[in-house]
Amino acid sequence: MTVHFIGAGPGAPDLLTLRGRDLIAACPVCLYAGSLVPAEIIAHAPKDARIVDTAPLTLEEIVAEFQAAHAAGLDVARLHSGDLSIYSALGEQTRALRELGIPYTITPGVPAFAAASAALGRELTLPEVSQTLILTRTEGRASAMPANETLEVLGASGATLAIHLSIHALDRVVERLTPLYGADCPAAVVYRASWPDERVVRGALSELVARVAEAPMERTALILVGPALAMEDFRCSALYDGSHVRRYRGLGA
Ligand SMILES: C[S@@+](CC[C@H](N)C(=O)[O-])C[C@H]1O[C@@H](n2cnc3c(N)ncnc32)[C@H](O)[C@@H]1O
Repeated sequence: MTVHFIGAGPGAPDLLTLRGRDLIAACPVCLYAGSLVPAEIIAHAPKDARIVDTAPLTLEEIVAEFQAAHAAGLDVARLHSGDLSIYSALGEQTRALRELGIPYTITPGVPAFAAASAALGRELTLPEVSQTLILTRTEGRASAMPANETLEVLGASGATLAIHLSIHALDRVVERLTPLYGADCPAAVVYRASWPDERVVRGALSELVARVAEAPMERTALILVGPALAMEDFRCSALYDGSHVRRYRGLGA
């Protein structure tokens, strides 16, 4: 018996990996993390599977589901939105499984920041403009930020920021980042990237709050900030530069 953690992707049912789909179809138990996992993905589970929405459950109740499946010898598909490497509560669940001696696997998924980049139609790193993407969030009611990971510290880098779980505090985010990036810095909010009701709001940092207020959005939105979001005057990457010699395109090519 194994618990298979599966990144269910950002929303569009066809952004699930083939491995994720096949594991869901093979598991007689399917636990999924609330409304961020679309019904079409849960529909890959066998017709007679035990399907549990874990949104109202505590960690102890979720672990009890794992233990019951383990006792019955039933594999579990455990679905979380996006990828499991960030803000998925994977850490505490896998720690509990290690303590219980229950085996698990992890199947990556398409993260929200990648779907947001696609919705914007832009690369988030550009040569000599930004070579770093910071995936972060702001403090929430239940989660303080480590002292070295505040927006002030991270923003001092000038890197592209993808700020999760913070749309409710957009005005504060803009206020804190303006001294670092400047009021004219390109910014965007991508709401429900890859869902049918996806929306993209672009503008300078100083315009973002007013633009989002025109059609307010809650929860499932990513804030992106950084010059790469709108820059057109950037150097080409060396990757496809004819004068650049690299391993697969030698001097003679
Ligand atoms: C609990 S975190 C989950 C992140 C997820 N594990 C990932 O890999 O992207 C939820 C936050 O991710 C962002 N998010 C998740 N799905 C999104 C989507 N489809 N569009 C925009 N933002 C999304 C929002 O900032 C939301 O508040």
